[in-house]
Amino acid sequence: MNNLPKRYHSLSSKELHIKCCLENDVESSIKTGFEEYYLVNEALTDTTLDDIDTTCEFSGKKISAPFVISPITGGIKIARTINENLAKAAQELNIVMSVGSQKLALDDPSLIPTYQVRSVAPTIPILANLGAVYFNYGYDIDDCKRAVDMIQADALVLYLNPLQKALQGTAQTNFRDLRKKIAQLCNSLDVPVIVKEVGFGLSRSTATALRDAGVWAVDVAGAGGTSWVKIEKYLNKKNCKDGDDSFDTAFDHWGIPTAISLIEVVDAIKGTPVIASGGIRTGIHMAKAIALGASYVGVALPLLLPAMDSSESVKNKIDSMIQDLKIAMFCCGKRTLPEFRNGNCIIKLAK
Ligand SMILES: Cc1cc2nc3c(=O)[nH]c(=O)nc-3n(C[C@H](O)[C@H](O)[C@H](O)COP(=O)(O)O)c2cc1C
Repeated sequence: MNNLPKRYHSLSSKELHIKCCLENDVESSIKTGFEEYYLVNEALTDTTLDDIDTTCEFSGKKISAPFVISPITGGIKIARTINENLAKAAQELNIVMSVGSQKLALDDPSLIPTYQVRSVAPTIPILANLGAVYFNYGYDIDDCKRAVDMIQADALVLYLNPLQKALQGTAQTNFRDLRKKIAQLCNSLDVPVIVKEVGFGLSRSTATALRDAGVWAVDVAGAGGTSWVKIEKYLNKKNCKDGDDSFDTAFDHWGIPTAISLIEVVDAIKGTPVIASGGIRTGIHMAKAIALGASYVGVALPLLLPAMDSSESVKNKIDSMIQDLKIAMFCCGKRTLPEFRNGNCIIKLAK
């Protein structure tokens, strides 16, 4: 951190992440894998665009589209604006929203208001968020309950981030025994538990272990979108810019591409809802993810800039993705999400 340009010196790490994402290209060096798949155009679609129905349920609540605003922030000044704009847009669109890691507010209750969005989003599913690794650093099930109660959440999202922690050079790389602790949490929390990565994907075996531990859903958060390898490099290396020789590339291609992680995980834990995130940038990515078996899709980075602006900007961004999903379903001749998901609407060309 000492090598950071002066303008970064007084910022907390959460602020640094946001500033870094806004000022640099932090998209992964590897692709999501969706580019290898093609949706099947049905010219005799036998539907009308107005009939396309993207409604579904998320943990008992009816939502208008399978869209989750992925965890981004909280605990810093600007987070209040960001979370409020995200929440207002999510409420108007009737979709799901997660807040960012609540560890800061568990440590310092004065920061709680930066996460609290229930007043502007009274009915939608709102998700609490904490790093699972903190179970090995003094946080426990009661802290998870506090995080949920703090924002009147409908579910708790735990994130797994071994590579991010290793690259941060912090001492917090003890990921031992987390399966057992997640299972204990699932048994004692009143709301469902979701577990996600942060941009490197979930494997078949991790997803199976999580399902067996009792999680309600998993979010693959695969590679191909926001790259924490890039973010941590920008923040830790002097004057780092893309193309700079000093830019360490050892982990640039680390991670399971989102499409591959999704296909593996959907197959491994049939019947457990799977959220596809990591590099979802268009309604076509959404459509491909759902056609490959995702129950929902999640988006983070593309919403950051609009959320700094207004709820209207966030709403426009998400709405245009959902409209493109509807057009894709229409052109594939599928009226509902289950028809689309189970309708052999996607192919991979043989090489
Ligand atoms: C600025 C920023 C902050 C993030 N903070 C969190 C966080 O606090 N908790 C978490 O689970 N994920 C966090 N993430 C990861 C995202 O939720 C998501 O898994 C990842 O960015 C991949 O999605 P994307 O490619 O659409 O950005 C953050 C992402 C960004 C861009």
